[in-house]
Amino acid sequence: MAVTEEGVTTHPLTLTQELILMLLNEETGYFHQVPGWDLNCAVIGAVIAELSLRSRIDTDEESLFLVDEAETGNPVLDPVLKEIAAEPVQRNTQYWIERLAPRAESIIDMVLDRLVDLKVLEHHEGGFYTLARTAWQTEVFDSSSEGTAIQFVKTRINNAIFNNEIPDPRDIIIICLINTCDVFRFMFQLDDEAEARIEFICKMDLIGRSIAAAVEHNLAGPLLRRSALAKKIPAVSLSKLLLNPYIRVGNIPALFADLTQEYGPVFEIRPPFAKPMIFLAGPRTNRWVHRHGRMYLRAKDYFADFEKVYGASGVLPSLDGGDHFRLRKAMGPAYSRGRLGGQVDQVYHHARKYMANWTVGDSFSATHLCRRMINAQISPLHLSVDSQDIIDDLVVYKERALNTHILKALPKFMLKTPGMKHRAKVIDTLLERVQGVHTPAQRSGCPRDLADDWLSLHASDPQLMPESNLRFALSVALVASVYLGDAFSFALYAMASQPALYSKIQSEADALFDNGDPEGEDFTPAAIDVTHRFLIECLRMYPIVPMSLRTVMNSCVVEGYELPVGSQIYIAQTAAHYMDDVFPDPLTFDIDRYLPSRNEHHSPGYAPYGLGTHTCLGSRWMDLQLAVNVLMVAHYFTLKVSPANYKLRFSPLPSMKPSKKLKFHIAEQRRELRA
Ligand code: HEM
Repeated sequence: MAVTEEGVTTHPLTLTQELILMLLNEETGYFHQVPGWDLNCAVIGAVIAELSLRSRIDTDEESLFLVDEAETGNPVLDPVLKEIAAEPVQRNTQYWIERLAPRAESIIDMVLDRLVDLKVLEHHEGGFYTLARTAWQTEVFDSSSEGTAIQFVKTRINNAIFNNEIPDPRDIIIICLINTCDVFRFMFQLDDEAEARIEFICKMDLIGRSIAAAVEHNLAGPLLRRSALAKKIPAVSLSKLLLNPYIRVGNIPALFADLTQEYGPVFEIRPPFAKPMIFLAGPRTNRWVHRHGRMYLRAKDYFADFEKVYGASGVLPSLDGGDHFRLRKAMGPAYSRGRLGGQVDQVYHHARKYMANWTVGDSFSATHLCRRMINAQISPLHLSVDSQDIIDDLVVYKERALNTHILKALPKFMLKTPGMKHRAKVIDTLLERVQGVHTPAQRSGCPRDLADDWLSLHASDPQLMPESNLRFALSVALVASVYLGDAFSFALYAMASQPALYSKIQSEADALFDNGDPEGEDFTPAAIDVTHRFLIECLRMYPIVPMSLRTVMNSCVVEGYELPVGSQIYIAQTAAHYMDDVFPDPLTFDIDRYLPSRNEHHSPGYAPYGLGTHTCLGSRWMDLQLAVNVLMVAHYFTLKVSPANYKLRFSPLPSMKPSKKLKFHIAEQRRELRA
């Protein structure tokens, strides 16, 4: 703590920041909390307490008074202070906590952003946070305060509870708030003496006590009121569903956008002879899933049958909580843009080799061409083997397994037909190839690949990555070729069907490739401005994974509808891609939506890579690889859509791809392909 020239006591971290740091659970990368309003109320409590410590307000058990409305200069505190100052009637703390609780989420966002800016926290995609590795210091403290920020806060709290040190007023408030949230037991091993000491500390300070009492009062309310207030989930009329024009063209996101328009953000489809399906759709439910899904929804159940097909259990997409976070952290580098950027010459090499077979006048099936061109790159990059001869069988088997064991669109025995049994064997062929080239001697001096990372994780942590999961992890690695390949088909379709955009992309490609091959870092936003915005728009209009499945593990209320425990939820995260209020004129392909003045993708409604903790780990890898491939095709060739009058239709199961009829005609070769 320090005293400024004006004699004001300042503190390097606010109470809200310290509370957030204390609540961070390093094992799960998120916060200790019990479902409900707890975190929100506690955060508002911390804001009110900070205003009180800064002598802007005062509180007692009956009222909250304004003392001084002068701004503090803190962007979290000042809007709250302004609102309190503007209130004509004097209210109590409980009233303010309840009134301000809906703001807590944006306050938490600001606090987290600030902690990331201060390099106290690191943010990881999927909404995970960890402590930054760098020691945290501030000139406000003497050298004894070195260490991470959380150690600094925790040490003070620890000393107050276990070493009987006299806590300062801030520590008392933090202890009161954490105690109210009932999460001390997750942080420290508490015995009777420590619990008694916590109770004692909580009584020491009037502000802390009144705020904790108000928070506590608010915590009980919403949970108890929940069921009584929940609305009945509307059921979609089956005839309306079947008559929807988007069903005919297979446009699942647009279909869900229409249903949301008519039935609201939560609706149910009741197929005959099957369990009702509850859907969440639209930007607000997306935001809820992204921020709160981890507390209520589980990925394990929907994936269990599917992973069993590969003899696996507890693989990346099916894990939840701390283990999931640990696995993502361990595998993050293998899927990173940096890993691909360092080997982008491999992408050029394999892409050119593949395109060397294209002759002007030829026509190729879009999905086949694109999946194979991407697999020609992904297979050596991820697994250091060639799999072009078996990729079709691997994909057919995996798509059948998805349809039988996840989407349940086909009966399970359809995975046991003689043809499928034969295809299942190619998984062993692939694994033999991978094992054959991953001996230590053979890998020496090679750039690391995904298989290296899986195998070394297995060796170092066989519980998190057991041998029984390797078959899944290594063979499903090539699924990236399908998703990325299909995204590539859509992108080539969008380019070939819009000549003005094609020529702009060609200009960017020529500028990058005309003077020799660019490095990975040359694909900057400025260098590929049009291509980049073009690809964002492709993923909006043609998302490959239109929805995700989860099971409700804690009942909850979303947009006023109760999701009962145990129910299966279909999160139609891409429905908002076709909603007029999120993307005006959504059926029009318009890359200017992503100009800084519009930034329409900066909304929870844009979700081609999923939401929340399972957000696609390969999204940055994918952005780069897709851009490089589109630019290379544009640089070397002019493609045309074939047949010329082709109208885009989707084949939506198990993931979205253009219909089989789409072909690309090689109309012109613009440059020689170097070997
Ligand atoms: C257009 C291409 C792609 C799309 C649209 C896409 C989309 C998605 C989506 C929606 C999820 C979340 C699924 C869920 O919530 O249940 C996901 C997960 C994942 N994706 Fe992608 N993906 C693409 C390409 C890739 C590529 C190229 C890689 C690898 C380089 C990759 C690696 C992963 C991984 C590892 C996960 C699992 C993450 C987890 O469960 O924590 N994806 N992807």
